[in-house]
Order: sequence, then C-alpha cells, then structure tokens
Amino acid sequence: MAQSFANLLEQDQATIAPLYGKVDINFVKGEGSYLFDDKGDKYLDFVAGIAVNGLGHQNAGIKAAIVEQLNHFNHISNLYPNYPQIALGRKLLEITGFDKAFFCNSGTEANEGCIKFARKYFNRKGEAHRQKIVTFINSFHGRTFAALSATGQPSIREGFGSMPGDFVHVPWNDVDALKKEIDGNSCAIMLESLAAEGGVMTLSKEMVEAINSLQKEYGVLVILDEVQAGMGRLGTFLGFEKYGLNPDLVSLAKGIGGGLPLGAVLLRQKIADQLKPGDHGTTFGGNPIACAAGLSVVEQIAQPALLKNVEERSAELRAGLSKLAEKYTSILAVRGEGLILGLALDENLPVGNVITAAREEKLMVLSAKGNVLRMLPPLNVSANEAREAIAKLDAAFAKVSK
Ligand SMILES: Cc1ncc(COP(=O)(O)O)c(C=O)c1O
Repeated sequence: MAQSFANLLEQDQATIAPLYGKVDINFVKGEGSYLFDDKGDKYLDFVAGIAVNGLGHQNAGIKAAIVEQLNHFNHISNLYPNYPQIALGRKLLEITGFDKAFFCNSGTEANEGCIKFARKYFNRKGEAHRQKIVTFINSFHGRTFAALSATGQPSIREGFGSMPGDFVHVPWNDVDALKKEIDGNSCAIMLESLAAEGGVMTLSKEMVEAINSLQKEYGVLVILDEVQAGMGRLGTFLGFEKYGLNPDLVSLAKGIGGGLPLGAVLLRQKIADQLKPGDHGTTFGGNPIACAAGLSVVEQIAQPALLKNVEERSAELRAGLSKLAEKYTSILAVRGEGLILGLALDENLPVGNVITAAREEKLMVLSAKGNVLRMLPPLNVSANEAREAIAKLDAAFAKVSK
C-alpha cells in the first residue's frame, strides 16, 4: 500500500468522518520511542498512541508473537477455546490475583462489561434493585452508551439524548459527596486509579479509605477502570496497587494489546459465579492474534526492571517538569504519577499552543481536560530520551512565553 498521499490532511478530511482534530504529519515508521515522517523528520513520541505503545514501536517480542500466531490462525470465534486467549488469561490472573478474565476489543467495551457484570451479579442474587453506579466528575470511561453515561464530563455526553439511567457523578476526591450517594441499595463505585483524560488527577488517601470502607459496609462493588493507568503506567502492574484499593472488577485496554485492539475485564470469583453462557459476548473479543501480542506485552511489563524504569524515569521527568514550572510562570502545577504526567497551565496560555510548539521541536505530547499538558511516554523510555523531552519542552515554553 502506498505510504504517501499529496495533501494528506485534505485527503483525510474528504474521506474520514470529521470526529478528530488531526495534525498534518504523515508518519511512516515508528522505532522505539520515536516516530518518523515521510520527510525523514524524527519525533520523540510522548503520546505513545495515547498510552497504547507501552513498549514503544516495533517491539521485537510483540512482533514475533504476532507472526507466530499468524502461522496458526487469525480467528476462530469464542465458540472454541483457544490457546492464546487462555495463556494470556492465566498470566493476567497469576500476576493480579483475580479469578477470571473476559476479553473484548477496547476500553469502552471493557467498561460496558464491568457495568453489565456488576448489575447481573446483584440481579442473580435476587437484588435487582441494586443498579445505581456512582462515578466521578472528570472521569472518562468511553464512548459507548453505558460507558458514556458513566463518564462524568457533561461535554462528552452532550447532544446524544437520554443516557442509560442510574449513573450518578460526584466530584473527584469529594469523600462526603460519595458517602451521600452510597448505601445498601447501590450497585457499584466506578473510578480510574488516576483520572488521566479528566486532567491528570491523582486519588487522595481519604478517598481510597472511604471507598474501601463503603465497599465493606454496604457490599457495594468497586469497578476500577485501568484502561489508561493500568499495564505498568503508574509503576505497578495495575494502577490501584499503588493506592491499596481492592476492586471486584477491573477493566483493561490500551497498553495490553501492544497496538492491537484488545480489552479485558478481570473478575472476582463471586461475580463469575453469577454469570452464565449467553449473558454477554463479543465476536472479536479475545482474538488470538491480539491475545498473542497481549501475552508478550504482559510478560514484558510484569518484569521488575521495566516497572523500576517507570519509577526512575517518572522521578527524572517530574524533576525536569518542576524546574520548568520554576522557570515559566504559566505552569501552575506538575501533576500525575508514574508515566502519566501533566502540567496544569494558566488559562492565558492555551495548552494547544504548547502542543504545537513542542511539535515544532519534534516532541509529541497531548492535552487533558482543564488546560493540562499530558505526557504518556513509552514505559521503556530511556533516561536520555527523558532528558531530551524536557529540553524540547523547555524550548517550546520559551517560544510560547515570548
Ligand atoms: C480511563 C479510560 N477508560 C476508557 C477509555 C476508552 O477506551 P477506548 O477508547 O479503547 O474505548 C479511555 C480512553 O481514553 C480511558 O482513558
């Protein structure tokens, strides 16, 4: 297939539905932490496919696993057990201590699964009235209807008419507001271990304690959306391990497939016990090629050296970002954990201006809600690359601060 079009962005706009604000670059190759365009320009990729390419571009292990599975079959359906799915499931359960895995294709679909399993659990236990799911303002759980209803950002829900009911949103880290909404009739509390899209917001200790005690007191289920913060991004295999939460259901996607579409739900046995064939399903979920790639990803991410790299690079990047915050008054705060890092910016400096200036310096970064600059480098980013990113950001801020 031809790698290049004249007027690429124009061609895109003439062809693809207008749902994204795109940048006019024709990337033709990725290697490690870098992307290359058709002019031969080299960009340091701190977007990583929006937290998908945790092991960078062209990871040898992922490539070999995909090729190996292509020599067997691409797809056989969920009517038959298959080795890649079971091998990935076993590895995930072994690492996380969960009891069962369900595979799907994306983050929103993993969250739909969590929501359906939580409601079915209470329904089968004879408590069908327990439907209410409390989530957080600033949360992002996906674009399909139930995940959209769970998402606490009104702008993302606007214009789509009525939403699936019994979702309530409370402010992030507002313990009193959460306590007011939860009782013995509630179904679940659903949250990200770090609200990434919603502004790179970390969880307070008080909120973690409140969630743990509400879970014990009322038997309310805890659903952890680890789509962005899981798979090593916070320096632990799953993000919630950092905070001491004890979820009943976990959703995974993004980083787990090594660039192929793959999502997963991890379940406790008590929930799996209430599910039956036909309750839920998907044609492509757990596709053997995606699962083969996923097994390679999971094996590599679970390595202590990789998780240590996340912590070390995170500390270096945070130190570098803090220096920039001292130098440029438009940076109000350094946010985040692990390798989901952010800079909250003064409203007089739109984050888009910094993203453009960084791109001119050949550094790819992205935004988060609330005028926040977000960085999602690959988990195996090197110390040199981290230094390079800070130098490029410094140059970008110098340009926009004039
Ligand atoms: C925390 C979180 N949940 C869910 C989703 C939705 O995932 P997907 O786009 O794969 O449906 C995202 C995507 O950004 C996310 O960050």
